[in-house]
Amino acid sequence: MVTRNALLFLAQREEVKGIITRFRPFRKLTERFVAGEEMEEAIAVVNELNSSGCLASLDHLNEAVTSVAEAEAEVREYWRLLARIDEARVRSNVSIKLTQLGLNIDHELAYRNARAVVAEAAQRGNFVRIDMESSNVTQITIDIFKRLRAEFGLNDVGIVLQAYLRRTYDDLLDLLRLPARIRLCKGAYNEPPTVAFPDKGEVDRNFIRLMQILLSSGIYHGIATHDERMIAATIDYAQRQGIGKEAFEFQMLYGIRRDLQEQLAREGYNVRIYVPYGKHWYPYFMRRLAERPANIWFVVKNLFKG
Ligand code: FDA
Repeated sequence: MVTRNALLFLAQREEVKGIITRFRPFRKLTERFVAGEEMEEAIAVVNELNSSGCLASLDHLNEAVTSVAEAEAEVREYWRLLARIDEARVRSNVSIKLTQLGLNIDHELAYRNARAVVAEAAQRGNFVRIDMESSNVTQITIDIFKRLRAEFGLNDVGIVLQAYLRRTYDDLLDLLRLPARIRLCKGAYNEPPTVAFPDKGEVDRNFIRLMQILLSSGIYHGIATHDERMIAATIDYAQRQGIGKEAFEFQMLYGIRRDLQEQLAREGYNVRIYVPYGKHWYPYFMRRLAERPANIWFVVKNLFKG
């Protein structure tokens, strides 16, 4: 827990990135979780995933952007990405973060930028997923999503909810009334116990409860986890309720449990892999380390191998 919190704290310190990238084992580990710094590297990864029967969601890495010009550059990157997805004929949608589009500068700016990405995707028949970030932006993320959903269709834009937040049960029921397509995940940020369940058992129990509501809603949702117990609970619930494999998808992160990804795809489940790329990989990478601090031992062992 201490290591997790320390890593999540460091995730917000860009200056540490310079130190980390000097060590080759760290760079190697980055390659495991990030498809590359360039769009073409990510498209190549998606091509490969598609061949193994998996779908993708491409994410241009960036967050907590502090300049209007940078936030607008992100919109143009997503326009290029959506065009490239069509051109390369890969099966992928896109994921965005509102702080990448200027949420920390001005809420209206983030809304306008998100709208510009969703409008382009809708026009191309593609789909935009709005990632969920730390709890200080949960409400505004939901508010902006609702504005977009009022204008665009169920299959144009969706949102993410985190099972570790105490508020999520209410948010989920509220959003299902729209209706909305939801990606359910456990949650990856450092949150106080007043806001998030501190105990992993409680998070898992909430995840299962929320998953069951989603599956029974009749809407196509994403169950995003690498946790075999959560996956087994999902499969079990779907079978017991007579919910077909085509009615939902499993989602996992690039570089994590490839074996499980391919196994589920072989068994006929829809499996979507979140594929991040870009130069601003540092906070994303640190969150992946925090989820499994054992990953650090891989780095330490390799440091001494030379
Ligand atoms: P858990 O953490 O219990 O891990 C279960 C098992 O999975 C571990 O025992 C290990 O085998 C493997 N595993 C998990 N993480 C690993 C890692 N980093 N390295 C190696 N093995 C690992 N969060 C968020 O706050 N907002 C968001 O928008 C998203 N979006 C998102 C999209 C997708 C497609 C996924 C899969 C996840 C997210 N997340 C997210 C992250 C999510 O909240 C959560 O932090 C991670 O998925 C880890 O939780 P698990 O459900 O895998 O369970």
